[in-house]
Amino acid sequence: MSQTKSNPRRVEYPGDGVVVTWEEDLCIHIGECGRAKGDLFVGGRQPWCDPNLSTADEVEEICERCPSGALSASFADGSHEEMPDPENTVHVSYNGPLFVRGDLAIDGAPDDVPGLKFRAALCRCGASKNKPFCDNSHEAVKFQDYGAVGETGSAEADTGGPLQINAAPDGPLLVKGNVSIVTGSGRVAWQGKQVALCRCGASENKPFCDGKHKDIGFKS
Ligand code: FES
Repeated sequence: MSQTKSNPRRVEYPGDGVVVTWEEDLCIHIGECGRAKGDLFVGGRQPWCDPNLSTADEVEEICERCPSGALSASFADGSHEEMPDPENTVHVSYNGPLFVRGDLAIDGAPDDVPGLKFRAALCRCGASKNKPFCDNSHEAVKFQDYGAVGETGSAEADTGGPLQINAAPDGPLLVKGNVSIVTGSGRVAWQGKQVALCRCGASENKPFCDGKHKDIGFKS
């Protein structure tokens, strides 16, 4: 088993009947893979990922834990195809990005990164050099927001279906589709079909955009 690099920032780990792909640009080292039981991912080992040391079910399940979309698994027989979560969710993380899961269509996301159709970590501090994705710049700029959810008025609740996410130039993330917003502490705080989420870091009503991006001259 050997790893291959199909582009400078992508590493493929082939196994028998499956290829695990890791996108370095998207990985923010949350560590869901490394903490999973078994030997699929073992830090410090070469190669770090060996799909032949786990069952197909384990490979699928562990790759789908990856919250940034950096990991995905492709099976030669077409089995274990990733399906979206039944509900679209935006999780407002503690001092960190918006973790989005569901049936995602992120404008500008590369077509050849399958994980991003289901999972993504989106910048909300304004400092990422890989917008709209998080690159952990929130740590360098000491972004502070604990993930409480403010008010935005009433909204119609529903679940499932596609979730379109567009990053407005120099403005918020425009989210369209059934979506639940979850606080940093895990409370489902808001459900609706359309919302503008702050990605400049300056809103006083996070995670919602309140127009402050104009005041601070946010440039995306
Ligand atoms: S994008 Fe931050 S206030 Fe609008």
